[in-house]
Amino acid sequence: MKDKKEALEYAQKWLKIIKQEELPDKELWEWIIKESVSNFKEHFNKWWLENRKSITQAWEWAVTEWNGKWAMFRDVMWRKYIDFLGWYGLMSHGWSNPDIIEAVNAQLLRSPMPSQELMDPLRGAFARIMSEITPGKIKYSFFAASWTEAVEWAIKLAKLYTKKDAFIVATDAFHGKTMWSLSMIWKSNYREPLGVLYGWHVYHIPFWDADALEQQLETCRKIWIWVAAVMFEPIQWEAWAIVPPDDFWPRARELTKRYETLLIADEVQTGLGRTGKFWWVENWDVAPDIMTSWKALWGWVMPVSSFSAREEIWQSMMYPNPFIHTTTTWGWALACAAAIASISVALRDDYPKQAEEKWNYIKKELEKLAEKYPNIYHKITWKGLLLGQHFVSNDIWYKVSSECFKRWLLVAWTLNSSKTIRVEPPIVITYEEIDEWLNRLKDALKAVSKMCDDDKKRCRIA
Ligand SMILES: Cc1ncc(COP(=O)(O)O)c(C=O)c1O
Repeated sequence: MKDKKEALEYAQKWLKIIKQEELPDKELWEWIIKESVSNFKEHFNKWWLENRKSITQAWEWAVTEWNGKWAMFRDVMWRKYIDFLGWYGLMSHGWSNPDIIEAVNAQLLRSPMPSQELMDPLRGAFARIMSEITPGKIKYSFFAASWTEAVEWAIKLAKLYTKKDAFIVATDAFHGKTMWSLSMIWKSNYREPLGVLYGWHVYHIPFWDADALEQQLETCRKIWIWVAAVMFEPIQWEAWAIVPPDDFWPRARELTKRYETLLIADEVQTGLGRTGKFWWVENWDVAPDIMTSWKALWGWVMPVSSFSAREEIWQSMMYPNPFIHTTTTWGWALACAAAIASISVALRDDYPKQAEEKWNYIKKELEKLAEKYPNIYHKITWKGLLLGQHFVSNDIWYKVSSECFKRWLLVAWTLNSSKTIRVEPPIVITYEEIDEWLNRLKDALKAVSKMCDDDKKRCRIA
């Protein structure tokens, strides 16, 4: 029986809990864990639970997070974890960055949302800042909450401007799971259950292969299929951390100009200095026509994504109908405050330099480990603080992941590869935290190596 009175009491209980700083009371944390597992199971997705390390590897008590600071967080049982997943690259600023929280708090106390009808200062300020920091002649931006939306709208803008319908994207690509983004991605598990997605032409070429891109553009031209845009991620992070060869992006830029189509860079994972430049494409002085950005934009406090373009392209969204693209909550004030603070911290604290120094340090150590454990590691790939640890088999990946988790290290695979552990810690991570992570990782590898010595059959190379 549904019961609104019970709903009210339950909501009020949670409101009391979230106002507590600490959870000293064992009864309370037990209750939180049990309720969280049961709520996920009964009201969200019970199969998720079977796929989460926080449940499957956590023995008696599912790991339920509570608070975090910089690169560390605690669960409700007050155990301390090191976060080398950085929420899939979102968390360049670490957990609870004080500069960003301060800005968001200030805005929250004044006004969390704009009226939509009057002029509001923050959306404009954020768009202006974006025009200063994005490559080439990019000048206009529009904001959303999720990254897949930014991709959807980049696609919409390309169609509006070019009046063409076809797109060329990459094998192994990931751009999100809403309908247009989904039609551009590679992994069939997500696409196939939905049948025909886009209804017109989407071509996939091998990501690293500029010759294949040229061939596809030429074929489309010959058979009169008009390509609106070519869209790539600068690094295929969700694939298995695939770093393109140096000539790929410059040639993609040259080819898209030659074949009169747009180039979209999906910088969702790579911006804000993570690769040693503010944007990945700046590694090759490439200026895309449209750019989506980026997970770290909102400083892990209030979600916001953006898509940006040059004025002549943006015209098609301004004229003749300036309302052809809107949403009610676009660029809400708290998200804009978070983004303005996030960008200013990244510029002030030179995130590209920090990322470069820290990745050199981590990479050197990981390469030593890969050499020491050839039965475990296949290779290390990287571009900046996006490192992929590739293992010899899914089985080994699973063992390393679970041994890491037992030592309170947060790690994850990439969406398209269950042989890869991604390494994308907060850019603000300290060297002490990196060393602590390395110590725990070494300990985990020692345990896996011993398992392999004891039972060679189970550590097969697949
Ligand atoms: C390059 C890229 N584009 C788009 C997305 C979609 O983001 P979301 O699923 O958070 O909306 C992702 C997510 O990881 C991504 O890596």
